[in-house]
Amino acid sequence: MIILGIETSCDETAAAVVQGDMGGTVPRGRALAQTVLSQIADHKPYGGIVPEIAARAHLTHLDGLIVKTMADAGIGYGDLDAVAATAGPGLIGGVIVGVMTAKALALAARLPFVAVNHLEGHALTARLTDGVNFPFLLLLVSGGHCQLLAVEGVGRYRRLGTTVDDAAGEAFDKVAKMLGLGYPGGPAIERAAATGDANRFPFPRPMKGKPGCDFSFSGLKTAVRLVVEALPQLSVQDVADLAASFQAALVEAIADRVRRAVAAFTAAYQGRTLVVAGGVAANTALRGALQNIADNAGLKFVAPPLALCTDNAVMIAWAGLERIHLGLTDPLDFRPRPRWPLDPTAPARHGAGVKA
Ligand code: KG4
Ligand code: ZN
Repeated sequence: MIILGIETSCDETAAAVVQGDMGGTVPRGRALAQTVLSQIADHKPYGGIVPEIAARAHLTHLDGLIVKTMADAGIGYGDLDAVAATAGPGLIGGVIVGVMTAKALALAARLPFVAVNHLEGHALTARLTDGVNFPFLLLLVSGGHCQLLAVEGVGRYRRLGTTVDDAAGEAFDKVAKMLGLGYPGGPAIERAAATGDANRFPFPRPMKGKPGCDFSFSGLKTAVRLVVEALPQLSVQDVADLAASFQAALVEAIADRVRRAVAAFTAAYQGRTLVVAGGVAANTALRGALQNIADNAGLKFVAPPLALCTDNAVMIAWAGLERIHLGLTDPLDFRPRPRWPLDPTAPARHGAGVKA
């Protein structure tokens, strides 16, 4: 089966053609072509993503990007078995651009349309890259989300924990802004932290030792702000030390929650794999901490390659393949969803910036 995937839910316009062999015990797939166009330069002057600018940029670039990706794959629309697009959650203007384009292609080429949950794209990437079997424990850490999920199967998720305020990537981005490191903040903080002293500022580890697996980052963010405001001016070394101290606190806070989730997961499920996904999974310090936790618990640790951790269309195409293999396609009147939790039975959390 060959599928075209489209991703437009945030600040990356992306298309990919993925070929899959879903018949065996472990599904297999490979990207025949993929293109990711970052809008970072468009949003940089504003210090964050501007939804209206994002939607217009997706509209400007998506059709050309699809033509290029199909040409790179060396196939025509008649060779496709389906068209998949991110149908939520995300910035709704961009999601609508991707969904409408996918529906139009599906209609014109008489192909099935698959509406993919962006989070399911992140969640299932480890099956494409490493053939991970269900069930597995997933830490999903991105600019909009911070969740721990037991992934039982395609479309079947149990949320073990989520953030009660900011997402992890959001915390990176906001602290980077305070430190004058620009946008996106995660990579900038990681670079600055490399030459910093992680012990100089004893920032709090929010939620550490508390019951459950929920996260919180707003107190940590505020603690950084108070230190920044108290310093007369920020030297290069101050910025490096602040970045290192913040990153260490955040990683330790996440690690505490993951350790608890590992205990809960291994007690309830046969699966023995810990997977990390989402943009913040690119962070080396976080990956190291997660590898440690997995080693100590006798779990296999899987982190997809960096390019498949940040937003891309390969993951959307792959999730589409997984769904179509199970006969799950969607009607052309499917409505894009700005909010679309993976586990609809989990109680909503009401904090500032909570996305699911
Ligand atoms: O998954 P993603 O590309 O987009 C969303 O769906 O949100 O994640 C983007 C987030 C941004 O907040 C960015 O700062 C963060 O991932 N990020 C990182 C790193 N690379 C990207 N955070 C920490 N360390 C990194 N190396
Ligand atoms: Zn994402």
